[in-house]
Amino acid sequence: MQERPQTLGEFIIDHQRDFPYASGELSQLLSSIRLASKIVTREIRKAGLTDILGSNEVENVQGETQMKLDDIANEIFIKALKARGIICGLASEEMEDFIIFDEEKHKDSKYCVMIDPLDGSSNIDVNVSVGTIFSIYRRISPQGEAVRLEDFLQPGRNQVAAGYVVYGSSTMLVYTTGHGVNGFTLEPSIGTFQLSHPNLRMPEDGKIYSVNTGNYLKFPDGVKAYIDYCQDVDAATGRPYTGRYIGSLVSDFHRNLLKGGIYFYPQGTNAPNGKLRLTYECNPLAFLAEQSGGIATDGKQRIMDIEPQELHQRVPFFVGSKNMVEKAMEFLGE
Ligand code: AHG
Ligand code: MN
Ligand code: MN
Repeated sequence: MQERPQTLGEFIIDHQRDFPYASGELSQLLSSIRLASKIVTREIRKAGLTDILGSNEVENVQGETQMKLDDIANEIFIKALKARGIICGLASEEMEDFIIFDEEKHKDSKYCVMIDPLDGSSNIDVNVSVGTIFSIYRRISPQGEAVRLEDFLQPGRNQVAAGYVVYGSSTMLVYTTGHGVNGFTLEPSIGTFQLSHPNLRMPEDGKIYSVNTGNYLKFPDGVKAYIDYCQDVDAATGRPYTGRYIGSLVSDFHRNLLKGGIYFYPQGTNAPNGKLRLTYECNPLAFLAEQSGGIATDGKQRIMDIEPQELHQRVPFFVGSKNMVEKAMEFLGE
């Protein structure tokens, strides 16, 4: 009989020993994320049938239209993460300020979470893949006190774990705790995530570039030159590369992780720091990229070495296969 794939629950417990003196809190935290992502999957799968498509007619803190599902996914993750008393606070793309969990059961929690509950939300209404991105830190303020802003503004290299869920043709959860990257696919009939992509490695080379070329004229010259390079014909290096841009960062990243490629959202003349958010979009994906052999940079420095100044800070973002990102940096340097 074929061996049964390991479930995410089993995997989390088995790997608790990667952390000396682990108390099981991180395992519980990951289990809460697993549960929330199943609930979000359920909501997304029936989205066209219930009145949850479209916008809330309000803007979120970023001045972007908040979709109903942005809000729903945000609530689902907050509820799941709050329920077990395992985190001391949470910051989300959908909320201006972080929330403090200071009830008795959270008293000894040492972890805080940053989350983009629904990434790519402009794709929801047209039935295209969306995702969730999460990032976990150990607090630096003392346990037992209210979590502080400084706990959330740690550089990405301090992440304890990070990952994403992609709600695609199947739902997948991909995460790292700093010991490589593993991917799990949701078996919908029994509602269990199963290890389908053990020890993911991002190919060092690729033939896919992902960028919103509609912004081409706004990009710095180095970025334009790199895009021209991707489009040039050169049989020896397999160019022109294939352009693939879903407009859901998680899905674009996921494809490039599996197939090799580069994703970039550079600064533009009217977006001096690009669009993507350092703390809950770029840092977690940077952690996954590096853990699978890839690179993530803002064009000048390693993403995970940036000292965040505010919760919703934006940064230019270049992420993907090692050789492709290095090549792009050559153009940016010129
Ligand atoms: P979110 O839906 O969480 O606000 O993120 C949207 C992001 C990201 O998913 C995507 O890559 C990017 O915005 C697309 O932006 P453009 O439409 O400007 O290309
Ligand atoms: Mn997003
Ligand atoms: Mn979002």
